[in-house]
Amino acid sequence: MAETTSASDSSFGRPWDEINDLGLQRYAKDLDARGYCVIPPEIASPNGLAERMLEACLDIAERRNGKRPDLDRGRPESQIDSPVGDTMKALLLEDPVFEESLMNPVLLALATYLCGYDVVLSSLTSFMKGPGTTRFRLHTDTQLPSPLPKQALVCKGIYALTDFNRDNGSTAFVPSSHKWCRNPVRRETSIGEGGNDRAVPVDAPAGSLVVFHGNTWHGAYDRVAPGLRVSVHLLMVRSLLRATEDFIGRIPQEALDRNPPRFAILTQQGVVPGYIDKDDERAKVARAQKFVSAYEQDSGVQLPAKR
Ligand SMILES: [Fe+2]
Repeated sequence: MAETTSASDSSFGRPWDEINDLGLQRYAKDLDARGYCVIPPEIASPNGLAERMLEACLDIAERRNGKRPDLDRGRPESQIDSPVGDTMKALLLEDPVFEESLMNPVLLALATYLCGYDVVLSSLTSFMKGPGTTRFRLHTDTQLPSPLPKQALVCKGIYALTDFNRDNGSTAFVPSSHKWCRNPVRRETSIGEGGNDRAVPVDAPAGSLVVFHGNTWHGAYDRVAPGLRVSVHLLMVRSLLRATEDFIGRIPQEALDRNPPRFAILTQQGVVPGYIDKDDERAKVARAQKFVSAYEQDSGVQLPAKR
């Protein structure tokens, strides 16, 4: 179990039950010990989820850029040498397959283990990276000055839609760095030859899901192989934090209707945005509470009171 959590604390019992039910114990233990875990496609990608996400990403890239990316040979037209590649933001509502990627019980069990039941989606982004020379320096996703709190405030799930390895420009991690509760500085941030020798590449076949604690030092290697690395990244944050994408009041009713009540919580409908006066506050709290109550009734989970 985590140094920061305890199975004997009843408030943590339910996420651990979910992890047991889904057979994810070893991945939760990796999260505790190393700050990240790699879940193989047969567990992470039910019903061809990753393949369908890849097709959706290629369709969207074609719509947005006017040309379908060539996975084997090409670099997206818009891409200059970049450590992340062509970035496609705000994908959640572009195709229902991304709702499915968010609602994947494997992702949710581990995100809940790290950030609790009121965790929300902050952003859903796809990256398509071709060959280049620039590496993505090591950093944390917590995005606060050091020292960082031990408990995860944010976590990330990365679906590898093509094979991840060093030559393909995979994500780099410094194992166990989440325990240091600080951001890397100066020379610690560089990876590759002459860089931080504690950094290791992720080796994961297409369809894998990588989940990591927001304090874990990570970056990305440059891609040296031809073709494209395609991935979808879900940044999840505790509901008290400012989210990158604004979903409040922007999720179509049909999307809410076709998903369980937790979808509304995950898409920030249970969050009370800033108010301007007492009446505005009342209205915003009442709207959020409606979604919270529906979720609590459906799940038996109790979320923090809205205010
Ligand atoms: Fe990051």
